[in-house]
Amino acid sequence: MQHKLISLVTKTAKQSKDQAFSAIQPSRYLKGLNKQQVGRGKTVLITGASSGLGEGMARLFAKLGYNLAICARRSERLEQLKAELLKSYPDIRVEYRVLDVSDYKAIFTVFDAFATDFGHINRVVVNAGVGESRRIGKGRFETNRRTAEINFVSALAQCEAAMTIFRAQNSGHLVVISSMSAMRGLPAHMTTYGASKAGLAYLAEGIRADMLLTNLPIKVSTIFPGYIRTEINTNAKPLPFQVDAETGTKAMVAAIESGAEQACVPSLPWSIVGQAMKHLPLAMVNKIS
Ligand SMILES: NC(=O)c1ccc[n+]([C@@H]2O[C@H](COP(=O)([O-])OP(=O)(O)OC[C@H]3O[C@@H](n4cnc5c(N)ncnc54)[C@H](OP(=O)(O)O)[C@@H]3O)[C@@H](O)[C@H]2O)c1
Repeated sequence: MQHKLISLVTKTAKQSKDQAFSAIQPSRYLKGLNKQQVGRGKTVLITGASSGLGEGMARLFAKLGYNLAICARRSERLEQLKAELLKSYPDIRVEYRVLDVSDYKAIFTVFDAFATDFGHINRVVVNAGVGESRRIGKGRFETNRRTAEINFVSALAQCEAAMTIFRAQNSGHLVVISSMSAMRGLPAHMTTYGASKAGLAYLAEGIRADMLLTNLPIKVSTIFPGYIRTEINTNAKPLPFQVDAETGTKAMVAAIESGAEQACVPSLPWSIVGQAMKHLPLAMVNKIS
C-alpha cells in the first residue's frame, strides 16, 4: 500500500510539472502549429460557440485544420459561423447543433450525435457559461442558482458526456474553461460566479487525478482566463488587465494545444496575479475583482 502511494506521488509529480507558468508566446506558437496543420483529421467539440471565446476558439482551431462540432442556443449565429469557417477553410468539416446546456439530457444526446457524425472526438471544450451572479443576501437567489447550475451542474453533465465518449475511444482531451475568479472567494456580483468556476476547476482536477490513478490516456486541461472583453462583460466598466477577444482566444488555444494541465491566460500577468490572489489578504484580493 505504502509502495503504491510513493510510486503514485512520484508519478504525479513528474506528470504535473507546473505548466501554468510556462511562457508560451501565443502568436508565435500558433503560427508554427498552423504551418503543421496539427488539427488535420481531428475533431474539436465546443459548447457555447455562438459568441465570445467559444466562437473565437472555433476560428483558431479551424485555422489549425481541426473539424468542428459546435453548439449553443442561438442557431443563426452557429449557422453563420459554420458558413464563415467553411468558406475560409473548405477542407475541414463543421457541424452544429442547437443545445441548451440547462437541459442535461440533451447534452448527452447532442454529444453522442456529434460522436456518431465524426466517428471520433479528439477534444471537448466545456465553455458555455453565464456571468450573471449577484450579491448574496439581496434577494437574487434565482439568478445565483441559475449561474451555479449552468456553470457547474451543466458543466458536470458536459464532462460526464465527454468522458463517456473518451473512455469508449480510450483517448481524448477534456478542456474546461474556469476563470481567474476561481482563485479566491470574491465579493459582490462575483461570489457565486467565482464559486461555480472554482467548483469546475476542482471537478476537472478530480477527473485528471482519476486518469492518473487508472492510467487512462485521456488529458484534462483547466483554463483560467483573466478578463477578456466579450458579451459576458459588455456592460462592465474597464476591467483590470483586460484584453480583447482575439488576444484572449489566442492565449487560450495556445495553452490548450500545449497540453497544459492548468493555465492562467493570458499567462502574463495572470499566472503571477493568480499566485498573488492565492496568498494576499482578502481585502487586497477585493481590489482586482
Ligand atoms: N470573458 C471573460 O472575461 C471570461 C473570463 C473567465 C472565464 N470566462 C468563461 O468563458 C466562457 C465563455 O464566455 P465568453 O466570455 O465567451 O462569454 P459569451 O460571449 O457570453 O459566451 C457565452 C457562451 O455560452 C453560451 N451559453 C450560455 N448559456 C447557455 C445555455 N444555457 N446553453 C447553451 N449555451 C449557453 C452562449 O451561447 P447561447 O447564448 O447562444 O446559448 C455563448 O456562446 C464562459 O464559461 C465564461 O464564464 C470568460
